[in-house]
Amino acid sequence: MTFLDLAKKRCSVRSFTKEPVDPALLAVILEAGRVAPTAANSQSQRIVIIDEKEDLRLLSEVAQIYGAPLALLICADQDATWKRSFDNFDTGPIDTAVVMTHMTLAAADVGLGAVWVDYFKPEKVKALFNLPSSWHPFHLLAIGKPNVPLKSPDRHATLRLPLDKTVFRLEDIRK
Ligand SMILES: Cc1cc2nc3c(=O)[nH]c(=O)nc-3n(C[C@H](O)[C@H](O)[C@H](O)COP(=O)(O)O)c2cc1C
Repeated sequence: MTFLDLAKKRCSVRSFTKEPVDPALLAVILEAGRVAPTAANSQSQRIVIIDEKEDLRLLSEVAQIYGAPLALLICADQDATWKRSFDNFDTGPIDTAVVMTHMTLAAADVGLGAVWVDYFKPEKVKALFNLPSSWHPFHLLAIGKPNVPLKSPDRHATLRLPLDKTVFRLEDIRK
């Protein structure tokens, strides 16, 4: 499978079987996150594995994880993020998003379903799991065996904008 095949195959999965995620497959996903690029190689990501029934239940009260048997909580350690010197711009949310992208693609590559979830209140999740004060939770990745057919790689023909809506040559902007 080429990279483009994988990128087109990956889709959000929002229904999972109860089957636990194979630790060997989780290891592949985590390794894909480990090698992700981060600003100045700061590696500020802190990933919390949530797979105990009670923890998943508690998490489900503050975030929709679609009944997944495993959720990864991706935080940025604010003490480790790269801050741009001239305006203090903090790359924590970008670094963690790049890590997320690697992991979602890896999940698709090993045949697991996953969905990226940002719709939660970070302070609630932080308090729920008593996270270290410098860790800011940005993303959840709900992972499991898909309980629904996967979306078609051909869906991008209609579900994504054509390139001419998002990519420009300077001469067209300058017009
Ligand atoms: C930054 C980001 C945040 C997202 N947050 C959520 C979310 O909170 N809940 C959800 O169900 N899906 C969420 N998604 C999944 C998107 O809705 C989904 O990727 C998009 O609709 C395209 O569909 P596809 O992933 O099947 O190609 C998020 C995706 C991204 C990249």
